[in-house]
Amino acid sequence: MSGHGDPIPMTARRAGPLTGRAEVPGDKSISHRALILGALAVGQTHIRGLLEGQDVLDTARAMRAFGAEVTHLGPGEWTVQGVGVGGFAEPADVIDCGNSGTGVRLIMGAMATTPITATFTGDASLRGRPMGRVTDPLALFGARSYGRGGGRLPMVVVGAAEPVPVRYGVPVPSAQVKSAVLLAGLNTPGQTVVIEREATRDHTERMLAGFGAEVSVQDGPEGRVITLTGQPELRPQDIVVPRDPSSAAFPVCAALIVEGSDVLVPGIGLNPTRAGLFTTLQDMGADLVFENMRIEGGEPVADLRARFSGAMKGIEVPADRAPSMIDEYPILAVVAAFAEGVTTMRGIKELRVKESDRIDAMARGLEACGVRVEEDHDTLIVHGMGPGGMPGGAVCKTHLDHRIAMSFLIAGMAAQKPIGVDDAGPIATSFPVFEPLMERLGAHLARSPT
Ligand code: S3P
Repeated sequence: MSGHGDPIPMTARRAGPLTGRAEVPGDKSISHRALILGALAVGQTHIRGLLEGQDVLDTARAMRAFGAEVTHLGPGEWTVQGVGVGGFAEPADVIDCGNSGTGVRLIMGAMATTPITATFTGDASLRGRPMGRVTDPLALFGARSYGRGGGRLPMVVVGAAEPVPVRYGVPVPSAQVKSAVLLAGLNTPGQTVVIEREATRDHTERMLAGFGAEVSVQDGPEGRVITLTGQPELRPQDIVVPRDPSSAAFPVCAALIVEGSDVLVPGIGLNPTRAGLFTTLQDMGADLVFENMRIEGGEPVADLRARFSGAMKGIEVPADRAPSMIDEYPILAVVAAFAEGVTTMRGIKELRVKESDRIDAMARGLEACGVRVEEDHDTLIVHGMGPGGMPGGAVCKTHLDHRIAMSFLIAGMAAQKPIGVDDAGPIATSFPVFEPLMERLGAHLARSPT
């Protein structure tokens, strides 16, 4: 879908107050994992609230190619008839993961310790992203891989026939790498150990435990040590996917910067490994209220109310908070541009290997909108212009990146002149209802350049 169809230029112009309920779709990370673990369980997993964005649909298709029966029952409601750990069949054709780094990396891990061969590809964005970070640890299990120069897709992975367990220190803070290793550990006899220096999103560990795997987590001097006992029989689950905090970030931040706004996002996931943006916004002075905190499906959930916050101040975002808000820096950069003073974001070089180089994409787009920015390989600094201060009046390049597209459209809702994006198509990968949802709140979006 994204990267395959014609570009969809879109423009946002200044809106009146944004008000109402924003029922954002299911969590993307949890949706991928529900399908993959459902495919590896014995019996039928039932999922409600699944994100029906293109990234997740591509993972559903991939699970079918590996032999699982994946059925769409109704909106957000799916079943997966799993084949059991080690039961993946060899796909008859190339697995196209579209735009999804999470999809391809987790699936590579899940098949790497089964004696089958699979070929993976994706769109132009995904074909440019590094896969060595997962194929290096998968090689330690005995899997082989053959990709384009520098470990890029298309890539063939030959699963290990006699996998050996691995003890692996993840060299970059990446939940995708951690998860790929854990999923490979599932069909490996003995104990697979993953050590991460900084805590990244822990949905895989939580869900593995939910499916009945023996998984333990210990905090030690080296960091978080996760130990998985291989070759469990995974029991099928009933999974309710919480709403995605990374998608909620867009209507929430829009409410903060559009004068007079008051928006409620019900039922969003607030796993502490994902909630860093909200802490940062509160540090800046945002008016956020969390109501009805509760646990649903093993994940903390709350209703979040966001109101226009005219007095936000720039801050230095603590670098050690980066893993818990790694996908939210683009929209934070937009909020920073509407705050008073300077916001400094350090320790964010991982943004350079996302769906696009997000430091560069945000810096160039904000500059085009009249905002002063500074950057180095690991840092982005935004000089705030205060409420309504951003001049706007530019068309920003999105580089096949859904979050860059949504960030600049949100900026356009509060800037002086409209802001366009060259291609809003990729938004469908994670937030297919972004356009109608934002319009219902009162946003003005048009499918045309400025
Ligand atoms: C994800 C992990 C993060 C994040 C991505 C989703 C996941 O990537 O950026 O959107 O579901 O595991 P990294 O693991 O590369 O940091």
